[in-house]
Amino acid sequence: MNDIPIGLGAQFMRHSPRFAVGMAFLAGYQILQRDIDLTVKDAVDEAVAGNTELVQALGVAMVVMAIFAFIIRVLSRMAIFDGGRIAEYELRRALLDRLHTLGPSFYGRMSTGEVMSRVTNDLAQVRTLLGFGVLTSVNTVFALVSALSVMIPISSKLTAAALSVLPLLFLVMRQLSGQLYTRQRENQEALGSMSESVQASIAGVRVIRSFGLEAFEARRFDHINQDYLTKALAIARLRGSMWPVMQTITAISVVIVFWYGGHLMLAGELTEGDFLAFYRALSRLVWPLIAIGFLVSVLQRGRAGYDRIAEVYSAIPDIVDGDKLGADSAAGSLDVRGLSFAYGESRVLNDVSFELPAGSSLAIVGRTGSGKSTIASLLARLQPTPTGTVFLDGVDVCELPLSAVREVIGFSQQNPFLFSTTVGRNIGYTLSEPDSQASDAIIRYAASEAQILPEVEDLPNGFDTVVGERGVQLSGGQKQRVALARAFVKEPKILVLDDPLSAVDARTEKAILETIDRQRAERGVLLITHRVSAASRCDQILVLDKGVVVARGTHEQLVAREGLYATFAEEQRIEGELARLSQAEEEALHV
Ligand SMILES: Nc1ncnc2c1ncn2[C@@H]1O[C@H](COP(=O)(O)OP(=O)(O)OP(=O)(O)O)[C@@H](O)[C@H]1O
Ligand SMILES: [Mg+2]
Repeated sequence: MNDIPIGLGAQFMRHSPRFAVGMAFLAGYQILQRDIDLTVKDAVDEAVAGNTELVQALGVAMVVMAIFAFIIRVLSRMAIFDGGRIAEYELRRALLDRLHTLGPSFYGRMSTGEVMSRVTNDLAQVRTLLGFGVLTSVNTVFALVSALSVMIPISSKLTAAALSVLPLLFLVMRQLSGQLYTRQRENQEALGSMSESVQASIAGVRVIRSFGLEAFEARRFDHINQDYLTKALAIARLRGSMWPVMQTITAISVVIVFWYGGHLMLAGELTEGDFLAFYRALSRLVWPLIAIGFLVSVLQRGRAGYDRIAEVYSAIPDIVDGDKLGADSAAGSLDVRGLSFAYGESRVLNDVSFELPAGSSLAIVGRTGSGKSTIASLLARLQPTPTGTVFLDGVDVCELPLSAVREVIGFSQQNPFLFSTTVGRNIGYTLSEPDSQASDAIIRYAASEAQILPEVEDLPNGFDTVVGERGVQLSGGQKQRVALARAFVKEPKILVLDDPLSAVDARTEKAILETIDRQRAERGVLLITHRVSAASRCDQILVLDKGVVVARGTHEQLVAREGLYATFAEEQRIEGELARLSQAEEEALHV
């Protein structure tokens, strides 16, 4: 898609053949209109002279011309509007491609609502500019030439008189459409904040309910809704007054033509045919002149819209594709050397180094906020990994294509995101044909490995159950295991599991740990966890504290030493004891 030119002018040139065809039709239309005017003049003059037969023939000719004119007009609009629509389509695709390449620094700056309004509203403005804008500007020029070529030969004095009001029409329209533009923008903004508020309310509906804040939310929403109503009414009033104003001004011009034209006719300077043809040509000019008023704001809006879109096009991705190949036959060894990282100003990781030889396993343990998830996201380059810090089979990941890195590293995130589709498709998201029979078997196997198969089968439609937006219809633990299954499906060389046990009960935890043991036999596993019981199974354990590696070794080595890990082990041993005791007590009470 990179070959699509994204500038306004470039898009115009790209679709210029279509625009040229449309303009040719417009020219044809205006020529036919002029011919109809001249035929009107002849027909009326002949009628006055009493040549009935000729008048009938001219009448038929007019009908034929009018039909042709109608067809040509439709074709011209199709050609030009299609150009605008296709440009919009292409720009939107290019925009989405761009949005996929942009990373955390862009999305940290621009909210979802902002991005959405660019992809929808602003692009629509650009389409209007390239469709309606092009059509109207060309049509207005052609209409002026065509109408004046009828009016001036009939009477230049009458032409000057009739057109004397039209600058007023243009000025008033410009003024009104400028106001309309401002009000429309305010209205758009009000609509935007209303949708944002609705979205936030819906997303946080459980929090609102649990704190009993419905009335407060309703009042807040009422305020925003009221604001939108006020702005919508302001537009309606302006729109409502536009037509009467335009009609009044055109009526003045009609009065002038009848009054002054009548005089000229009585003086013998105009025939009846001249007068009617003149009047018809003048009426053809009214709409194109009104449209110039709109054109100004269409131009402004289109350009402003394009500038807002251009901010997305010109945003620089903080995670760029490398071009070194050769990861296809990856063995899957990871080497992290002196990795430091900061979110903006706040430093999160400091000189972290570790190795994950192909097929081995490593656990990272550490208190909450110590930077474990940050390490995981840097391995898969979901954050801007500094160059020269993470190596995959000896090659700097920053030099590899992103697709190659993500092919090798399967990542199950701590806060998994599920798509609003079926469980099966969520698990088989990375498969090329998730609905095929072969995929079905892979998905089921992955689900059973992630210890979620029985629960999925109990859902109303099994794997075909739709999980709702972000997976709201699943429990936290279920979502976590669906995401785990999604990572298993890829059969990556390296599996990065970020806290896969945080939302499961003891029995499921045990089963998942057995799965992880099986996975360890087949691929490299990096397990992020708070649980000593899980970490103890890995070949190596890395203890992280405030972004610094404070200890490393096997479980046995680490418990033998004093330190964070030994403290964790002791804390969790006591927790386990307590849990067992309370269970025993409970059982005793039931006996
Ligand atoms: N996108 C972000 N922008 C800014 N700061 C962030 C971002 N993500 C995490 N942080 C900060 O970085 C630090 C490390 O976060 P990280 O998520 O890596 O911790 P963690 O060890 O995974 O914690 P947990 O065990 O709770 O999952 C935290 O202080 C957090 O506030
Ligand atoms: Mg984390």
